[in-house]
Amino acid sequence: MLVITNWKMNPLSLSQAYKLLDFYQKLNYKIWVAPPFLFLQDLIKKYPDFIFGVQNIYFEKRGAYTGEISPWMVKNIGGKFTIINHSERRKLKEDLKIANLKLKSALKANLISVVCFGEDNIIKDKQSLIKEWNKEYKILFRDLNINSFKNKIIIAYEPSWAISTAKIGPVPKEQVVLFINWIKKRFRGKILYGGSVFPENIENYLDISLDGFLIGSHSLKPKNFRIIIEKIKKFSIIK
Ligand code: 13P
Repeated sequence: MLVITNWKMNPLSLSQAYKLLDFYQKLNYKIWVAPPFLFLQDLIKKYPDFIFGVQNIYFEKRGAYTGEISPWMVKNIGGKFTIINHSERRKLKEDLKIANLKLKSALKANLISVVCFGEDNIIKDKQSLIKEWNKEYKILFRDLNINSFKNKIIIAYEPSWAISTAKIGPVPKEQVVLFINWIKKRFRGKILYGGSVFPENIENYLDISLDGFLIGSHSLKPKNFRIIIEKIKKFSIIK
């Protein structure tokens, strides 16, 4: 199972990032890590056994875009993937049209895109939920045949309302299954779940047809993250 960790704006120093990765190393599991940009180059050199990527990119290749990072820059220093359309970016007014441009740009730069997907508010009625997903899908993947990029796109079901900062998640298992069934009719690549995963709930999601997890806050808590990885390992052996 694929495990991708999104460190968000943590930790505050490179030495703390080393500490976390030294700990990850002991877990003996192939983990993909999205640290803050500033630490990326250093971590890529120091920890060759991990796959590193970024939490965001800009959609232009180069030019007068103060403060932005080009996907080609990420690629050129050895980054392998970028997260796109994270709900925390959407909160900063980044919309689906921008996410669509970013995705196209990442694909051109040959970066793997971990595309976050999901409704912003709780929707209990199934038909309304599917309607909302269809609407999001149309804008996010406009002009793209995503199946022809099924090795370059990973979709992570991560509704904004369910991530840990929202404090009302996680998503009920039946709804994750509904999403998987819906997305599998449209996309044949990897599907992850990310809203949200912690030691007490990971087992809920292990026996449905997911390819892995996108983990935020609990990837920064060694004790909890160890339990998560151990449970995933145990499940993979049984399977
Ligand atoms: P939490 O695991 O903190 O809920 O965050 C999920 C997330 O945003 C991963 O991208």
